[in-house]
Amino acid sequence: MTTRKTPTRRRFLSAAAGAGAAASLLPAPFVLAQTAKVKVGILLPYTGTYASLGHNITDAMIMAIEGAGGTLGGRPVEYVKVDSEADPAKAANNANKLIAGEKVDFLTGPVHSGVAMAMVKIAREEGTITIVSNAGADAVTRQMCAPNVFRTSFSNWQTCYPMGPEMVKRGHKKAVSITWNYAAGHEMIGAFKEGYVKAGGQVAKEILIPFPNIEFQAHLTEIASLKPDAVFTFFSGGGAVKFMKDYDAAGLKKSIPLFGAGFLTDGTLQAAGPAGEGIITTLHYAESLANPTNKRFTAAFKAKTGRPADVFAVQGYDTGQLLVHAMKAVKGDVKAKKEIMAAMRAAKLDSPRGTMTFSKSQNPIQDIYLREVKNGDNVVLGVAQKAVEDPGRGCGMT
Ligand code: PHB
Repeated sequence: MTTRKTPTRRRFLSAAAGAGAAASLLPAPFVLAQTAKVKVGILLPYTGTYASLGHNITDAMIMAIEGAGGTLGGRPVEYVKVDSEADPAKAANNANKLIAGEKVDFLTGPVHSGVAMAMVKIAREEGTITIVSNAGADAVTRQMCAPNVFRTSFSNWQTCYPMGPEMVKRGHKKAVSITWNYAAGHEMIGAFKEGYVKAGGQVAKEILIPFPNIEFQAHLTEIASLKPDAVFTFFSGGGAVKFMKDYDAAGLKKSIPLFGAGFLTDGTLQAAGPAGEGIITTLHYAESLANPTNKRFTAAFKAKTGRPADVFAVQGYDTGQLLVHAMKAVKGDVKAKKEIMAAMRAAKLDSPRGTMTFSKSQNPIQDIYLREVKNGDNVVLGVAQKAVEDPGRGCGMT
């Protein structure tokens, strides 16, 4: 974690003197405003099952800002990182470190829905402009929505609701779902079930495993004995790799096709190898999307990090793009909060996922793609549902 004090007047004066004649002609407050750093707080997991997600979000967010000249509204940027450990019990403390301790101008992150709810609660009270760069907790853009809270990722509902009809279309009318026992798992299998039942499907059993456990064997034995037509799942990061491998090794993949929220197969396919093949998922992105922005983005991310891009990198990149856009609109004046939020609300981002705008509850409106893993890639089969907007139930701003 980096810490830096606000520049003193003395340090500022010597810096301004060094900057030469042009700067000395400008009124002092203007020069100070242009040299003071913009502090961007980042609360993401850098350890544990979600560590790879945290790294991709961070690296792509910084890449977007560097790509726009490395400044926000003409001012240099200081990134202050805190490892969330994807631990909701530590989330309030960690958010306070950034908001009250570091006095960040913007707060970004987290990955885990439980961490998000604690973080957003504090951000609402303090009024810190916050961009949720992954966690899908539905409440963030429903009951907990606020003018200073934006999300560049998805709501848990949004990614899974469109899968139900797709599975029924394929003739799979009886499913078992399996996921981690916390908000994201509950909301994702709940959204899947909503769409599935509406389309004529039936969920025989919902299996919940404590987060972040990866002991799947007993549950796979139970699935085999239940003999559903298909399985729907949400796992992500290290846990997703283990689940795909165990499902395959148990011999289930051939007899009971595996479906899921696309997080299962994003950023995990290299490690999963053949165990990933044939898995069908829904998500708001696929690395194989053919639009020019995605082509540029995936190449730049690979060149910068040596890793393939994934949905998490895209969300980080769009968080960076949103900061660039809003700070440009106010020419670097972080105090112009109302104008920053207005610029964010009106943003139309040229995202690698396709054009992205915000709903009234400040959640992305986005296409949800149907993807199938073929030769180690998430190949786009089509759009499962166009311009999906979270219902935003309970948000006073809708
Ligand atoms: C979440 O907890 O909201 C979450 C975590 C990992 C994902 C997606 C959602 O890949």
